Amino acid sequence: MNLPVDTAKLQNEMDTLAGFTQVEQTGRKGERAVTRVVFTDDDMRARAWLKSLYEDAGLAVREDAVGNTFARWIGSEPDLPAVGTGSHTDAIPHAGMYDGTLGVLGGLEAIRAMQRAGVKPRRSIELVMFTSEEPTRFGIGCLGSRLLAGTLDPARADALLDKDELPLRQVREAAGFAGDLTQVKLPADYYSAWAELHIEQGPLLECDGLQIGVVTHIAAPASYRFTIEGFGGHAGALLMPHRRDALCAAAEIILAVEHAALATAAIDTVATVGTVKVHPGAVNSVPSRVDLELDVRDTDPDRRDTVMAQVRKAIADVQERRGVTVREEEVNADAPATSSRAIVASIEKACESLGLSHRRMVSRAYHDSLFVARIAPVAMIFVPCRGGVSHRPDEFATVEAMTDGVRVLAETLRDLAG
Ligand code: GLV
Ligand code: MN
Ligand code: MN
Repeated sequence: MNLPVDTAKLQNEMDTLAGFTQVEQTGRKGERAVTRVVFTDDDMRARAWLKSLYEDAGLAVREDAVGNTFARWIGSEPDLPAVGTGSHTDAIPHAGMYDGTLGVLGGLEAIRAMQRAGVKPRRSIELVMFTSEEPTRFGIGCLGSRLLAGTLDPARADALLDKDELPLRQVREAAGFAGDLTQVKLPADYYSAWAELHIEQGPLLECDGLQIGVVTHIAAPASYRFTIEGFGGHAGALLMPHRRDALCAAAEIILAVEHAALATAAIDTVATVGTVKVHPGAVNSVPSRVDLELDVRDTDPDRRDTVMAQVRKAIADVQERRGVTVREEEVNADAPATSSRAIVASIEKACESLGLSHRRMVSRAYHDSLFVARIAPVAMIFVPCRGGVSHRPDEFATVEAMTDGVRVLAETLRDLAG
């Protein structure tokens, strides 16, 4: 039986969620600039609204100490490990309205579609909204799912500083999440299975004219901070032969990163310096210090390590030639995740029964599922997004694509929940 997905409700809720943002909407049809940083007023308003939707659907809601929010549809055998689904609703600065949000609102609509159809799941089905999948505020992605999986030390997490030097502990307490972070980790038998719905964030499905991507692997992400200390001074008086300009050194390092990623000649290697902070940041002052954040990913973590080895060699050379010092801090260097064959098969079976075209694929973006995979069998369902564009205001998925994804998710959850 085809589960009745309410397409209009889904689109309407996606639009409403997009309204909780720190940036004015762009106004162009289908394009919304969304900035929703964890524990800001917009995030808190979005959380409150989401909880009201969960309650309307009769779900039992709980929140943990880092603000991960769990909405449970209780099954007929509530003591069995649950089947999980979910994603995130935070958004990087000037982002789109689909990244993460589809996995939360689509997960909710999948549950409601099953409820409408009178499905009575044996296992409970739990929808999770993870705190801070995006690294914007605390510098590390998947904060909530890392803690849930026990891969991030709670004391280290609580000490993470945001851009205003406020520790996570203080920020989360101010947002009303005052509990002990050691309680966030879930036991390995908490979920029997997990499936996350997400936009593809790449162009392959659209190029191939396919409706569903079935994720078999999630690439291995890593990120690093570099602090480059040079010698600053007056932009007029400090003569060129005497300079140790930290920004010029940083420019060389950024190009070395690009060179190292290209040098692997593998299409799966990517490396990005996405933030540059210049001190003191005045046009008439020679930069004395620069902070860089580097994101490097690969499907092959050994190859990712060779990129970093080459970057470090280039940094040693820059230090020597330019008389600067460079400090490196590893933020995270994660292993890739492999999907469960059984859940992949369940998703493919759902696609077949719904008559939706599909292919297997690797996720080059990271997702909370990367960490849920440490404690449960997982897989992911991708739907196409226009031009493969993501982390931009013009990110766009059609309501038909979203609906296809919700249908596949609902069938998969029904199958996994028994
Ligand atoms: C998630 O937002 C990622 O950067 O892959
Ligand atoms: Mn994202
Ligand atoms: Mn995402």
